[in-house]
Amino acid sequence: MDNLAGRIALVTGGSRGIGKGVAQALGRAGATVVVTYNSNQALAGQLVETLTCSGITAHCLKLCAQDRGSVREVIAEINKRFGQIDILVNNAAISQEKPFDTVTDSDWDSMLAVNLRGPFACTQEVLPGMRKQGYGRIINIASIGGQWGGFNQVHYAASKAALISFTHSMAKIYSKDGITSNAVSPGLVASDMSAAELQTEAGAKKLSGIPVGRIASVDEIAAVVVFLAGNSAAYITGQTINVNGGMLFS
Ligand SMILES: NC(=O)c1ccc[n+]([C@@H]2O[C@H](COP(=O)([O-])OP(=O)(O)OC[C@H]3O[C@@H](n4cnc5c(N)ncnc54)[C@H](OP(=O)(O)O)[C@@H]3O)[C@@H](O)[C@H]2O)c1
Repeated sequence: MDNLAGRIALVTGGSRGIGKGVAQALGRAGATVVVTYNSNQALAGQLVETLTCSGITAHCLKLCAQDRGSVREVIAEINKRFGQIDILVNNAAISQEKPFDTVTDSDWDSMLAVNLRGPFACTQEVLPGMRKQGYGRIINIASIGGQWGGFNQVHYAASKAALISFTHSMAKIYSKDGITSNAVSPGLVASDMSAAELQTEAGAKKLSGIPVGRIASVDEIAAVVVFLAGNSAAYITGQTINVNGGMLFS
């Protein structure tokens, strides 16, 4: 893995789950890490404390991904404190288990506001700085749902499919500026989010069909993010890296 010393990373939704694992792995690789939380300030604070105790420079900020004003405040604060943002990990997201015929307009709008408009706003706000410095890594945490659809998560799956398309567009426009854009697409990962899905019939069926025979750990997702964040991955852009235990081949 490349040494990320001197790099400033923003991980949205880093208070728990995959985002927390990503923040820890980026920090271990040498990056300064800013994690955001939506409501779990205490968890984010604990993570910062743990990272700081290990000699990693870390900070946490509140972010409402669906709120442009909140996104602007977070980016401005990081730029003020650290002077730049080199790595953006668009990880924060929500999910909802609901049969399609009961999904409301409001469910649909909330899902897309957090899972798609959030990454759009964060990316748009960090790009001027990345373009100026001629270096950037945009890493979007997608989902296998965005590739093969969903049973009880149609709106979630749609948001992730659109995020993959957004990843492609950013790669087309900004790769020549030294800014790569990639998606990491997990299958099932041990976190609060998957716990709800695993309690459903569809979730249990999904689990039993994983070729590797188990769900992923957050560290297995984080390792791929760290690789994409480094100099060695400069020629990888516009890609969706599947970390799904063989659930989907492509
Ligand atoms: N777990 C899986 O099996 C799986 C599979 C495929 C893809 N993914 C993707 O991986 C990413 C992380 O998932 P996870 O399992 O780690 O989820 P998680 O455990 O539910 O954590 C979600 C994170 O997002 C934050 N968040 C929630 N709503 C937000 C909002 N409106 N604005 C800003 N931040 C918000 C949460 O902050 P608080 O702690 O403050 O609430 C938390 O840090 C997501 O993009 C998810 O879609 C997960």
